[in-house]
Amino acid sequence: MARRSLTVRVLGGLLLAGASLGGSARAQPVDQRIEALLQQMTLDEKLGQLTQYSGDWKVTGPVTFSGNHQEAIQAGRVGSMLNVLGSERTRAYQDVAMRSRLKIPLLFGQDVIHGYQTTFPIPLAEAASWDLAAIEASARIAATEAAASGIHWTFAPMVDIARDPRWGRVMEGAGEDTYLASKIAYARVKGFQGRQLGDTDALMATAKHFAAYGAAQAGRDYNSVDMSERMLWETYLPPFKAALDAGAATFMNSFNDLNGIPASGNSYLLRDILKGAWGFKGFVVSDWGSIGEMVKHGYVKDNRDAARAAITAGGDMDMESNAYRDHLGGLVRGGAVPVALVDDAVRRVLRKKFELGLFDDPYRFSDAARERAALNNPAHRQAARTMAAKSIVLLKNEGKLLPLSRDLKTIAFIGPLVKAVADNHGGWAVTLPNVDYSKFIVTQWDGLKVGLGSGTRLLYARGSDIEGQNRDGFAEAVAVARQADLVIVSVGESAAMSGEAKSRAHIGLPGVQEDLIRELHATGKPVVVLINAGRPLVFNWTAEHVPAIAYTWWLGSEAGNAIADVLLGKHNPAARLPISFPRGEGQIPIYYNHFNTGRPAPADGVAGYSSGYLDEKTTPRYPFGHGLSYTTFAYSDLRLDKAHVAGNDKITVSLRVTNSGSRAGDEVVQLYLRDRVGSVVRPVKELKDFRTIRLEPGQTRAVGFLIDREKLSFYNEKLQWAAEPGEFDLMIGASSADIRLSAGFELAE
Ligand code: NOJ
Repeated sequence: MARRSLTVRVLGGLLLAGASLGGSARAQPVDQRIEALLQQMTLDEKLGQLTQYSGDWKVTGPVTFSGNHQEAIQAGRVGSMLNVLGSERTRAYQDVAMRSRLKIPLLFGQDVIHGYQTTFPIPLAEAASWDLAAIEASARIAATEAAASGIHWTFAPMVDIARDPRWGRVMEGAGEDTYLASKIAYARVKGFQGRQLGDTDALMATAKHFAAYGAAQAGRDYNSVDMSERMLWETYLPPFKAALDAGAATFMNSFNDLNGIPASGNSYLLRDILKGAWGFKGFVVSDWGSIGEMVKHGYVKDNRDAARAAITAGGDMDMESNAYRDHLGGLVRGGAVPVALVDDAVRRVLRKKFELGLFDDPYRFSDAARERAALNNPAHRQAARTMAAKSIVLLKNEGKLLPLSRDLKTIAFIGPLVKAVADNHGGWAVTLPNVDYSKFIVTQWDGLKVGLGSGTRLLYARGSDIEGQNRDGFAEAVAVARQADLVIVSVGESAAMSGEAKSRAHIGLPGVQEDLIRELHATGKPVVVLINAGRPLVFNWTAEHVPAIAYTWWLGSEAGNAIADVLLGKHNPAARLPISFPRGEGQIPIYYNHFNTGRPAPADGVAGYSSGYLDEKTTPRYPFGHGLSYTTFAYSDLRLDKAHVAGNDKITVSLRVTNSGSRAGDEVVQLYLRDRVGSVVRPVKELKDFRTIRLEPGQTRAVGFLIDREKLSFYNEKLQWAAEPGEFDLMIGASSADIRLSAGFELAE
């Protein structure tokens, strides 16, 4: 989309915002300052604070605003913008707001999802690290960079649980498991928001999409969600609660209807749960146009009715629906909407602007010097490289093909993604206008070439495209493979195949890529496959025949270096799948923490009248929690300090883990529980804790866990969070399907 022109008028010196709030008024408590300002605002100015429009950077939805942004901002009719990037442009827009009657600063929001200039792995990939400190650090760096260029607010983290890899947005979350995703939600909010809002390296976080967006039927984006209360509370809401507990400043509505009520007009979600039971003090922004979309849902008859429904339900800011701007005034004047609802929403928005310090200096985030330093900080690149290496999941490694032997004289690096540049960014990457990404992103080719050094010859063939049926490149690829001692094939999706509105009904390796792998395998050369994707793909032939497979997702700016670090053994992989990989689309939804059913199917297929398929196993291709290392780990000596607990007693669990291989490595020790009998049936296992430990070869370390009542609790038949007496199984595993040690205990009446 063409840039709209914007006059850059940089004001010299510090400008005091809020004409009426200069001088001693600034010393007053925020509550008083908000009230003083509110009293001076016309209804139109109030609605302006509840209105958000997209600027002219790569827009992220269908633009609805047809007027002139500057005029609207100057008239006090816009409170927030998204898609305005860079200190210069944010400053220029802020200048316009400073010419409005009340000089209320604009808020700049942006989808800073996995990095800003320095791109980190896509969120699902980072989730595979199970490294909460690294995930928090990644968000911290993204915030530092974005905040320096004038952004106040990120529309992240997406904390939607996703059990359906057809849904394109699985790439943006933390996978299928509520416990892991909640921990990650907490870490991401902490990372984005830093020490406190108001620091110039802190962004406001957004917990999105509230709620249950990830359960869209059939994996189709924006589709309906029909879900039991128990499922909502137990599986889908906890990551939102974790984000709230971490202090998330804002929440965003989801596009879907939940049991027939669109989320943007859902007062049960917004008023009863979020602002009621949970006491949320921040504000709720709609998703792009989601207020107006309630008309198409068939929930309201027009945009005016949509505005009424949304503000009544508890939505505070309208992103790109023009509903609040155009209709709330009339609704308030006509008595259909109490002005108190508008005032409450405005207070919530103003409070954040105060907390960010924008009334004291509206330009404090738009700082060209800080921007230059933050965006080109070598420490950020190093962190992105480490995070990327931590995100790569080693799915298979027969015959210890990896790490690559230093004796290899010639390696063939083949595939449509070997020299790809922008794809490494993955979906939802910020692309800044002034960055030459061809130099900024390390391709897989460059990473491996540099990593190998001059001792090994690296040959290249593209082989095929990502999509399409063209096999013209196969012959050359096979010829190149024949010259090599080992073949690495880099295949997968294009980055544009996952993300918003990127659902796929068929999630196999696209095009003829798996055929390419077959032909290369047929040369008899050892083959390593790298799979780049934003979702779990189906690749059964490869999984069965190729000896070594690494899942590399989309790894960001440092993709090539990180992949080389893993291939060459500089980084020993420890990542674990945060989502189950199906054998076929017909198994979806497939997740490890399912119920047993009354007729559980044997793992390898159907037997008699059981809950399986005639033509497929019920187990995933790769289970939740799976991921290999270049070393091996032995588990032993599981001990529980008591076999019976009562009341608030805690059980201390201990075990020992030994590095039984020959390389130092990290192991993610996973603790699962099963409640054998409940007032409602309970999953076959649930992740309740994990620890990552580093062990030198031969080293043994003790690992400890504490089981408290909270870990034994669930939503019982009355939907109360409670632990029920009875027997529990405790399982310690290297994955959800690789349980190494187990024991039982009992919770007494
Ligand atoms: C729509 C997406 O669903 C949401 O996640 C995003 O933040 C907004 N567009 C703004 O780009």
